[in-house]
Parts: sequence; C-alpha cells; structure tokens
Amino acid sequence: MEPHQRILVALDTTDVDHASALATALKGQVGGIKLGKEFFTANGPQGVRQVAAGDQPLFLDLKFHDIPNTVIGAIRSALKVGPFMLNVHASGGRAMMEAAVAAVAEAGENRPILLGVTVLTSLGDEDLAGMGIQGSAQDQVLRLAKLAQSCGMDGVVCSAKEITAIREVCGADFKLVVPGIRPAWASADDQKRIVTPAAAVGMGADYLVIGRPITGADDPAEAAARIGTELANA
Ligand code: C5P
Repeated sequence: MEPHQRILVALDTTDVDHASALATALKGQVGGIKLGKEFFTANGPQGVRQVAAGDQPLFLDLKFHDIPNTVIGAIRSALKVGPFMLNVHASGGRAMMEAAVAAVAEAGENRPILLGVTVLTSLGDEDLAGMGIQGSAQDQVLRLAKLAQSCGMDGVVCSAKEITAIREVCGADFKLVVPGIRPAWASADDQKRIVTPAAAVGMGADYLVIGRPITGADDPAEAAARIGTELANA
C-alpha cells in the first residue's frame, strides 16, 4: 500500500455538495473517504453515492449494533453503496458479529473490510463500571478485540494508545484503524490524546482516520499531500 493510501478522510458534514467537493479535491491524495451517521442520517444512500461517485474507496462508519437479523439486513443494504470498509459494535456480541461476517461475505470479491468498534473513547473506567463492566476500559478493549477476531472480523477501530496492546494480542494481520491523529502543524481541536500520522503508523496502525486537519485546512489537497509526504518519509 502506498503511504497516502493509509489516510481515510472523515467528511463530518451534512452538506452533500461540500462533501463531494472535498472528495473530488482529495482524490489521489488519500486512500478513501469516511462518511458517518451525521451524513448518512441527513442524506441517505443517495447522498453517499453522490459523494463516493468519483470512485473513492468508502468507509461507511455506521457502527451497527442490533440483533443479528437486523444487522444482516442493515449490512445487505449498506453493501449496495459499495463500501470498502464497514463497522459494527463489537459489544453486540458473538452472534451479531458472526452474522455481520456472513453478511459481508455476500459481496463476494467486493467484500468490504469489516471492523469492530470496541469501547467508545468517550467512555472511561467509571462509565463502564456504571454499566456493570468490571476492570479498566483497556481490559474491555482487548477482550472485545479478541472476541471480534475470533468471530472472523478483520480488525477494530482503536485509539493510538491501544495499538501496541491489540497488536500483541491479535497479531500482524488484524487491521487497526486509528482516529485522533494530528500532524505536528495542525490544531488538536477537541481531541485529547493525539499522535502524529507517522507515529501512529510507526506503532502499527494500518489506516488513519483524519478529519479537520485536512477538511478544515485552507487547501485540503495540500494538507493531505503534506501528510502523505510525512508518511512516505517516516
Ligand atoms: O476531525 P478529526 O480528525 O478529529 O476527526 C476524527 C474522526 O474520527 C471523526 O469522524 C470522529 O467521529 C472519529 N472518531 C474519533 N475518535 C474515536 C472514534 C472515531 O475521533 N474514538
């Protein structure tokens, strides 16, 4: 994989035209685009098709979490927009994840990468205790990453601080997709624990989810190219 192909740019907007313009401007500078619940709930599959029409690989970040039968149906619908990456909550459990693995297989050679979301980074140890989950958030992340792998999932979304521990437990082939990335020259915004793109890849990240450092730049294509160069030179 070319270094810049590790970059997945988060298009966190409800504006189809803005998202399309960014996707077009960034083509060739990033590995793909990420559209999530905010965009999808506003614009549906039609809006997604419009933005991804330039043949950009699409990470459809809808974090499904429901009974297995419903997740299968949701994934079948999601496959119609041709994503290269999809995700479900690992806390949906084994039956749900195995159902998700079977559902993505229906895409045959166009099967997307299927990721688990372990513990939302907005949750701390106390939040987990409030939900009856004993131990640290990090323990729960590792438990869910292992469970996801044993269900046939391809990888997980994780923070940079979790990369090393998950790699150790899940091995080299398990895909790690990492948000909370900030180049040294970018603002941290509301992200608290940030690492640079090169540091995250150095730790073992496969893909980097990067939003505002690119989408909020005066020249998004230039910002993406700069990150690509940093990755290439790391
Ligand atoms: O603009 P920024 O680079 O902070 O965007 C990061 C993207 O990654 C957003 O779409 C955000 O929702 C997502 N994300 C995150 N932290 C997580 C999981 C997802 O920032 N733990």
